[in-house]
Amino acid sequence: MTDQASKTAPAAKKLFIKTYGCQMNVYDSQRMAEAMSAEGYELTEDQAQADMVLLNTCHIREKAAEKLYSDLGRLKPLKAENPDLKIGVAGCVAQAEGEEIVRRMPLVDLVVGPQTYHRLPEMLRGEAPKILTDFPEEDKFDHLPQRRATRRAPAAFLTVQEGCDKFCAFCVVPYTRGAEVSRPVERILREARDLVERGVREITLLGQNVNGWHGAGEDGREWGFGRLIRALGEIEGLDRIRYTTSHPNDMADDLIAAHRDVPQLMPYLHLPVQSGSDRILKAMNRKHTATQYLRLIDRIREARPDIMLTSDFIVGFPGETDQDHADTLRLIEKVGFGTAFSFKYSPRPGTPAYERAEVDTAVADARLQELQALLTRQQKATQESMVGRSLGVLFEKPGRIDGQMVGKSDYLHSVFVDAPDAQIGDLVPVRIVESARNSLRGELAA
Ligand code: 5AD
Ligand code: SF4
Repeated sequence: MTDQASKTAPAAKKLFIKTYGCQMNVYDSQRMAEAMSAEGYELTEDQAQADMVLLNTCHIREKAAEKLYSDLGRLKPLKAENPDLKIGVAGCVAQAEGEEIVRRMPLVDLVVGPQTYHRLPEMLRGEAPKILTDFPEEDKFDHLPQRRATRRAPAAFLTVQEGCDKFCAFCVVPYTRGAEVSRPVERILREARDLVERGVREITLLGQNVNGWHGAGEDGREWGFGRLIRALGEIEGLDRIRYTTSHPNDMADDLIAAHRDVPQLMPYLHLPVQSGSDRILKAMNRKHTATQYLRLIDRIREARPDIMLTSDFIVGFPGETDQDHADTLRLIEKVGFGTAFSFKYSPRPGTPAYERAEVDTAVADARLQELQALLTRQQKATQESMVGRSLGVLFEKPGRIDGQMVGKSDYLHSVFVDAPDAQIGDLVPVRIVESARNSLRGELAA
């Protein structure tokens, strides 16, 4: 072999991934990129350059699925130009619709569900079916390549739990993501240590029902989620721990106590309540009342007084009256959320609520506006209460202005700081000086 020949490696193929929906999908997209990189694919940000386009989809609301089909439609000219272009659909729409996607959009080459994407390379080589949406016995995590940092990022996601057994009446997750499965303790701790060795300082533990995680611990006992967080708190160099998303009924005493005891556990909790009306909570099959939620919040705040709470709300659930809506607004007033997501109810085929009579669209729209206005006021007040405080900020990227860095505060607010000598990955005390619309401005504390 000549010197020349040994140097000319084949050009890497380019993979473009578009991720819809939740952080779980962001994590899955990273793992799919890693699996594909073992096959010689590297990520590109430019769809037009891609040899393969992978759409990692979300099925939670109707609009999310419709977005997939319009995006696929827009890929037609690209495929016409380059017939070798591979198009794959992954995620929850893939899981729910399977073959239907290829029937509707014949340009799609591969359909892969959230539990089978470790077989993506095989599928691409034609060694596995083109549509794979089963729930296999094997654990995909056992078959995925070791995690590698794809770019220098000090904050990472780590999936510890998947699926949901709660069956809220509006939700497709128990059907698309399947039953609750917890990953074993030693795998989680190993993945966390690996990430920290690669420079990660903040880990967000992910699961559809993350606080329902449980497993056999290193001491041979059954561990709950709080115990897992305590074990992660012992990893040297792991400075911040977060988790999302949780169900109120799985906020165990030990998890609440971990918010008091584990300094790395950030004072931030996303705890969806969906509604403040007992009647609607019951119709939603949430299995708790508004009062129980409020009591829980009191106990969490007792453990960690400076905690910021966030939530999810659905307005216009079937049967929701003006009084139910007023009850939700009252719950929001009582808690005071740092921020929250709110959605208009979207009927999902296959869920118990699907057949129920819907609230008038105009009424639901008006309620959503009212609820969002209240939440926006609370978000603004929360952000303004940060001004004057000194908070830790983990720098994640340079800002648009020269010498500026952007990072996240303990409370997950984006903070812009003038810090010409700082590096990505620095975790520094910052004095917050200004609250903008969706971010804060701070100065390096002397
Ligand atoms: N319609 C509207 N919102 C929904 N969510 C889940 N299913 C639906 C639906 N059918 C919202 C819930 C959940 C969040 C992830 O999405 O608020 O907490
Ligand atoms: Fe869906 Fe309810 Fe499970 Fe959350 S807890 S994933 S809303 S079924």
